[in-house]
Amino acid sequence: MNRRLAFRSLMGFVSGSPLFSQQIQQTPIPDDVMGPINVHEFEEMAKRKLHKLAYDFIAGGVEDELTLRANRHAYEHWYPVPRILTDVSNVDTSTTLFGVEVPSPILVAPTGGKNLVVPNAETIVAKACANSKALFCTGSGAERAVEEAGGVNWWSNTIGQPGKEQAASYARRIEDRGAKAITVTVDNQYQSNRDRNNRNRFDYGYMGTGVPTAGENVRPRNPAKAAMWLPHTPGLTWNYVGWLRGACRIPVILKGVLHPEDAELAVQNGASGIIVSNHGGRQLDGVIATIDALPDVVDAVKGRVPVLMDGGIRRGSDILKALSLGAQAVLVGRAPLWGLGSYGQAGVERVLWMLGAELKLSMALAGKHSVASIDRKIIKRIG
Ligand SMILES: Cc1cc2nc3c(=O)[nH]c(=O)nc-3n(C[C@H](O)[C@H](O)[C@H](O)COP(=O)(O)O)c2cc1C
Repeated sequence: MNRRLAFRSLMGFVSGSPLFSQQIQQTPIPDDVMGPINVHEFEEMAKRKLHKLAYDFIAGGVEDELTLRANRHAYEHWYPVPRILTDVSNVDTSTTLFGVEVPSPILVAPTGGKNLVVPNAETIVAKACANSKALFCTGSGAERAVEEAGGVNWWSNTIGQPGKEQAASYARRIEDRGAKAITVTVDNQYQSNRDRNNRNRFDYGYMGTGVPTAGENVRPRNPAKAAMWLPHTPGLTWNYVGWLRGACRIPVILKGVLHPEDAELAVQNGASGIIVSNHGGRQLDGVIATIDALPDVVDAVKGRVPVLMDGGIRRGSDILKALSLGAQAVLVGRAPLWGLGSYGQAGVERVLWMLGAELKLSMALAGKHSVASIDRKIIKRIG
């Protein structure tokens, strides 16, 4: 047996094994040639360790996954044009977001279904963010996780509440619990049609409980049928932004903006910030890649509120491109989950560290010593 195979069997790479999540949490990250050296390798490792239902749920996009692929490929037609002789002996990746200073402009995006990876996953990721001093964006109802983790700067994420009173009580509760901002996901009007989940007969109930282990029955059902026309927040309108703004003092940030006219409306309706996002290619298939949507949104906003972005980020150089096009910070969704699926909390911390280190080096090689000094003059679209 060669070294790599021996390593794999040692780690128990048996998809669906009842023990696999425990192994994820207990395995130290090898620092020798067998440890993952980038986010892509973390994904490969997580894929080997995770149940297929879980891997597909996380990795997958919607329908033909056009946007999922576009989110990655679009980085290929944006080219940095570096500056030289600028003294980059010291490079500072720190930045301030809505009054909170962070060591790097890399936030952890809200992702439902983390328990498909390991039990108690929201708390584990919150702890990793606390250790990495990264801002953690978490779903409504996951406040216990941030309390258990302690010392983490966090933003709450919601898909909205049906009425003004419910919105106000949510906002007050979140503010009282110490959230630094609220993000509102605005591209989740209906459950989307995800072929991988449909093919796997994925049951959304697993998102809370985790995937079934070997020997447990997978409930046979047809989610393709169930997912069609399953409403989440179809009645959400601009009024909602006003309700939240009226009910709390913390910033209200809209996540899922792609159209520049919506960016203008967001500012007019009092949004404190905008996240250019297409939900990681998981809502309407075929929509524009986020790195391509970003410049028009930044132009529409004209510096009135911060613009952030997410989608397809797997490298520090991707982040440099986003910052060059006007993003103040980025969010990463799948990348930390691949760390989580590989080595639990230590894996999340390693992924965040890797992306930060890659960003710092990319900035240095682009001739930029600080986040504020990065601008559109160092990027060009070709093709
Ligand atoms: C497994 C998974 C679950 C997600 N759940 C949510 C969610 O509950 N709310 C939300 O606004 N976005 C959700 N997203 C989208 C992310 O917040 C983020 O926009 C996206 O993952 C960014 O793309 P990336 O994964 O390529 O980094 C989810 C993404 C994934 C991969």
